Amino acid sequence: MTEHYIAALDQGTTSTRCIVFDRHGRMVSVAQHEHHQHFPQPGWVEHDAAEIWAVTRRIIPEALRKAKISARQIAALGIANQRETTVLWDRTTGTPLHRAIVWQDTRTSGMISNLSSHVDLQDITHRAGAPLSNYFSGPRLKWLLESDPRLHERVLAGDVLFGTMDSWLVWNLTGGPNGGIHMTDATNASRTMLMNLETLEWDPVLLGVFGIPQSVLPEIRPSLGAVGITVDPVPGIRICSVIGDQQAALIGQTALRAGEAKCTFGTGSFLLLNTGADLVRSRRGLISTVAYTAEGEPPVYALEGANPAAGTLVDWFRDHIGAIRSSAEIETLASQVDDCGGCYVVPSFSGLLAPHWVTTAQGIVVGLTSYVTRAHLARAVLQATAFQTRDLVEAMNSDARDAGTLAQARYLAVDGGMTANNLLMQMVADLTNVPVVRPMMAETVALGAAYSAGLAAGYWADKAVLRRNWKKAAEWQPHMKPDTRDGEVIRWTHAVRLAAEWGRL
Ligand code: G3P
Repeated sequence: MTEHYIAALDQGTTSTRCIVFDRHGRMVSVAQHEHHQHFPQPGWVEHDAAEIWAVTRRIIPEALRKAKISARQIAALGIANQRETTVLWDRTTGTPLHRAIVWQDTRTSGMISNLSSHVDLQDITHRAGAPLSNYFSGPRLKWLLESDPRLHERVLAGDVLFGTMDSWLVWNLTGGPNGGIHMTDATNASRTMLMNLETLEWDPVLLGVFGIPQSVLPEIRPSLGAVGITVDPVPGIRICSVIGDQQAALIGQTALRAGEAKCTFGTGSFLLLNTGADLVRSRRGLISTVAYTAEGEPPVYALEGANPAAGTLVDWFRDHIGAIRSSAEIETLASQVDDCGGCYVVPSFSGLLAPHWVTTAQGIVVGLTSYVTRAHLARAVLQATAFQTRDLVEAMNSDARDAGTLAQARYLAVDGGMTANNLLMQMVADLTNVPVVRPMMAETVALGAAYSAGLAAGYWADKAVLRRNWKKAAEWQPHMKPDTRDGEVIRWTHAVRLAAEWGRL
């Protein structure tokens, strides 16, 4: 009998991967390529959507070739993507009409500040599930329309389509140059600030706030469900799932029951708590979001804490400061000293997101003395990610306490590239005071996309089967003394306040 597999596309911030998985959730082959990052102005971050599509066209056949299988052996394809990254393209030619504005980009900060004074902020938060912020794609779309009147006219004439990277890829995969299906799923739509979190439809009030015509937006479909059949670059593969990458990681970690959480350490770090059928409204600055929707089932919600600078900070330390040659080197360097020498780094390159929400905050380094070495700075860079995780876990535990229905985190399931850094993981356990566990499979985003597509296609019978694939690889127990932790948190909290104030000057 011919063996069948599931393919997953993980279109991330720095690269795109295609991974083929077998029935046990094991990787059979991987093809991966990076794309360029463009920084045209301070705070601006752009991608070339055409380059991302070109990369995607290369890696799908490459992954099949490496797995030595044909398209007929792919039971389904799942797509997970960087969320909130915004692109408009020509409906007829399929050409992107500008560089995609990446989720880390802060160009809309001024617009958000102006808007804040004449809109009902509470109502927006209630409808969209998150505070008005430069993080989401709706404000980016408004910025594009306002900065180019001709583009605005073309949007109104119906010549142009909007999408996040999921929509962009599906359009190209299913239609070739003449265009295919224009869709998104509820997880990606929940990151636009344009979708109502209760109805899971585009919200007329939110569209009014941002001045967006609904005709430019994709259709919102279930995350787990039939999307269409590929025509390019490998025809005949069924796309059975589209889901935001952090929600995919939640599924990849099999955090499928209410009260289960995960934290992914990639470009940024993203803590998601599955809240089941309950749309929990955060009182501590977390985002209420969709965990996933499945055809014919009630939606599953999540609370999310998003920190935009984790791996990005290490990359900056490597590429822009030149303090290390490779990302892995930071662990060796930081291990040369026992502490940060009184130094703290607040990496608010994209403002401060959850739980602080200060759009205009800027990054700072404080506590510099002539005692501080490169090694202390390396340690402070890592510690910044651990502190930010601590802030998110605190907020999540407080929200869980308030909700009454959710237990506080007993452990933190982690994944993503940075979890290979043992020193960082120990810092996270110490500062959150919660044990940290990492599964064998680090590629949880792609695995979650594969699980989503495989469940929708009937490749896996149910979620219980997937749980059996989860195997613990490593664990870190908290060791820090409570007094030390309290002192560290006080100084970090003060540094965060300074970063917020600096941006207001
Ligand atoms: O919200 C942004 C997030 O989806 C990006 O994830 O893993 O591509 O950095 P990643």
